[in-house]
Amino acid sequence: MAKARTSFVCDECGATQTQWMGRCPECNTWDSLAAFTEPATGASADASPGSVANAAVEDLYKEVEQGPSQACPLHEVDLTELPRMPTGIEEVDRVLGGGFVPGGSILLGGDPGIGKSTLLMQVAGALSASGGVLYASSEESAAQVRMRADRLGLGDGPTAKGLYVLAETDLTRVLKEAMRLKVRLLILDSIQMAWIGSGAGSPQERSRNASGGSGAVAQLRRCATELSLLAKKTGMAVVLVGHVTKEGTLAGPKLLEHLVDVVLGFEGDQHHRHRILRGIKNRFGSTQEIGLFQMTSDGLEPVNEQLVRLDTEAQPAPGAVIVPTLAGSRCLLAEIQALTATGFLGSAKRRAAGVDAARLAMLIAVLEKHGGLRLADQDVFVSVAGGLRVLEPGVDLATALAIAGAHYGRSLEPGTAIFGEVTLSGAVRPAAGVQQRVSEALRRGARRIILPAGQAEEVEASARERLFEVSRLVDALNLLEPVAKPNAKPSTDAPDGLQAVTN
Ligand code: TYD
Ligand code: MG
Repeated sequence: MAKARTSFVCDECGATQTQWMGRCPECNTWDSLAAFTEPATGASADASPGSVANAAVEDLYKEVEQGPSQACPLHEVDLTELPRMPTGIEEVDRVLGGGFVPGGSILLGGDPGIGKSTLLMQVAGALSASGGVLYASSEESAAQVRMRADRLGLGDGPTAKGLYVLAETDLTRVLKEAMRLKVRLLILDSIQMAWIGSGAGSPQERSRNASGGSGAVAQLRRCATELSLLAKKTGMAVVLVGHVTKEGTLAGPKLLEHLVDVVLGFEGDQHHRHRILRGIKNRFGSTQEIGLFQMTSDGLEPVNEQLVRLDTEAQPAPGAVIVPTLAGSRCLLAEIQALTATGFLGSAKRRAAGVDAARLAMLIAVLEKHGGLRLADQDVFVSVAGGLRVLEPGVDLATALAIAGAHYGRSLEPGTAIFGEVTLSGAVRPAAGVQQRVSEALRRGARRIILPAGQAEEVEASARERLFEVSRLVDALNLLEPVAKPNAKPSTDAPDGLQAVTN
């Protein structure tokens, strides 16, 4: 009989150590290592996924027909076996690369309350029209799930027949039901609350046999392994919901991300309506695509209109710059906002929300060296309106101009959009997707577009009269115009402009 082996697993990142340490060497979290003893009988879950000592699950798999295990030439591999299952929700299909892949496992992560259950219930409703879907909830009761579905208008529509709900934390039972119903899609909301026990017996006995309670690293790994195995063996698609830790990463990322085919993140600010579905890893498609939603009283709706408006009549605002940015196959307008405030020399703060922090530090250095700005004693804050994240280099020029504009109290003429990459030498480098960016900015009402030198000729002739080329960062800085400062001093007089609301 194999000897029981004890290892120490980090609760935050899932890294495994052979001895206990006060601080995880992988993610630097203190006091996060917990002892985990692999079961003495049978191999460990990750060494040989199929051999988890779970008789009930093993029995189920015996019923499933195994595919041939003979090698065959690549061109003879049959693709007709894998028709995509589009959900019909365009924003979801775009991120998935055309729909769910049978046999694929997907991990959906996001902050609590962001709308993961809502999104998946809508997906379940959309798919159940053409086949069975099992929504297994380990967090809510079946009645709570039904209440949400009713609110989303799915409760007793024609699709509700193919949509099954199971409130269960015991994963073995979830797997059994999914196989009994022969569903096309299994949703487990959430993986952290599910557990799987070893061997047969009553649920209480198996629960006691389980290594650690639900949510423990060993349990997460086992549950995810069993679910992706189920997907591969039966051809159903499986979606797991995972929570995000306080550091903002998916719980146990090293642990779960390599066990699944696709990792999606659902992001957004709980206080704003916009939500963004993003691919973090995708074995079946691109990770560049994003899905845009807004949360309404009737659930999540796709966002067709833009996140920011290009208002040509607006008051010029120093520190706000509009940039057409590429997100996968689409182009979006984003507003980069910056603020500078007096800080302490040597320990000035630099804070970035939605833009890359390392890129921000570089742009500040370039502005100092080549733009003549003195920012060493200035705190610099940069954020992107609407909770969008823009990490492509085409937004450099807009970020630099937002910082300079905030610092000098200057702004670009209202109705201006700008894009381009900034180099360490202060030059403006060409950006990708010029035609797409220009078309989108013009479509949204831009009066003029500032772009890297030499790129205007890549744009169709009719649009060229609105284009202005810049070759160096200083050229762009010179386009910033002074903004008349409003009287910032609070007036001591009665605010006669304000009137009490009487009705
Ligand atoms: P939920 O999907 O439960 O979030 P998660 O599963 O990620 O924790 O829902 C999150 C929030 O969305 C909740 O505060 C209520 C709100 N909401 C709406 O605004 N409209 C709706 O139609 C629904 C179902 C939820
Ligand atoms: Mg939920």
